Amino acid sequence: MSLKADFTQEFARNQWYAAGWSAEVGTRPVARRILDQPVVLFRMPDGTAGALEDQCPHRLAPLSLGECTDGGLRCGYHGMVFDQNGTCISIPGQDVIPPTAKTRSYPTIERFGLIWLWMGRNVADETRMPHVPGYGQPGWEILENGYQHHLANYRIEIENLMDPAHTTFLHKETIGNPAAKNIPVEVSKTKSGIKAYRWLQNIPPTPLDRESRDFGAGRVDRQIAFHFQLPATSFVDIAVIPTGAERNEETMNAGVRTFSYKFLTPETQTTTHFFWLHIRNFRVGDDEFNRTLTASLEKTFEEDNVMASAIQSEQERSGLRQRTSLAIDRAPMMALRMIDRLVEEDRVAEAT
Ligand code: FES
Ligand SMILES: [Fe+2]
Repeated sequence: MSLKADFTQEFARNQWYAAGWSAEVGTRPVARRILDQPVVLFRMPDGTAGALEDQCPHRLAPLSLGECTDGGLRCGYHGMVFDQNGTCISIPGQDVIPPTAKTRSYPTIERFGLIWLWMGRNVADETRMPHVPGYGQPGWEILENGYQHHLANYRIEIENLMDPAHTTFLHKETIGNPAAKNIPVEVSKTKSGIKAYRWLQNIPPTPLDRESRDFGAGRVDRQIAFHFQLPATSFVDIAVIPTGAERNEETMNAGVRTFSYKFLTPETQTTTHFFWLHIRNFRVGDDEFNRTLTASLEKTFEEDNVMASAIQSEQERSGLRQRTSLAIDRAPMMALRMIDRLVEEDRVAEAT
């Protein structure tokens, strides 16, 4: 992999990307740049989410300056109305709709409180949607609608999220755990990505662990697993189980468990939409805890943003991405190579 910075790399387009929270898109259209494309999100009269290129075919007015009305999205300049397929359904003052009166539409799926767009030209493949275990199921508390705008290319963000080694240093004010410093990280492939994880073994439970589950006088094992899923989902899976218990989904769900999701959507080559969603199986319905946790997560993610943005600037200034490689680069490297392969698949598919 090149050690030069490159902000002209193609995105993997035949994939689902989070474009906005469902709650953001009500009666007014929302403008958003996704994979460097101007997109408008809106709702049809029946509530279905639509996503069109944010450009009227007439004078190229941004459709996001229009209104949701008259059975679709009405351009704010001369009133042409488009449905969620980008087809023009009416033009004020004329009956004939020219065949060129259409705009590009993006297939959408509304799931996990988010509107997802399929950004490629191939047929949208629903099996490529991410999974969020526990979402919408009893016994799990969800924090959603989390968003930050990060001033760094999404590859820098993925390097950050797949690199557990930075937590001790960058997040010493928030989630940093000096005890984890010297425990090696194992890396393995999963069905649609990779996992970098470590188990802290035979340690005392934290006060929060003790409050959330009855570990008696015993000690616990704590898993911290950093997952990457193509094309740009990252989640941290933290599970606390009694020491000696078998390590499987069942015991981890019976213990104290947290999934912290980040859906990274490239906005441009140098900026990223950082959608975050947090789900846990303890302190369910505890609003006070939700508020404290939200503030602490926001602070942690902002610490990452400050570092990632500074790295972005330095890469742009120097034209380099790094000058040396460390053992901890293995998981980030694997993730970036997987993205490169997806981009290559897109290229081959388009050429044929
Ligand atoms: S620019 Fe949209 S209808 Fe004229
Ligand atoms: Fe971080």
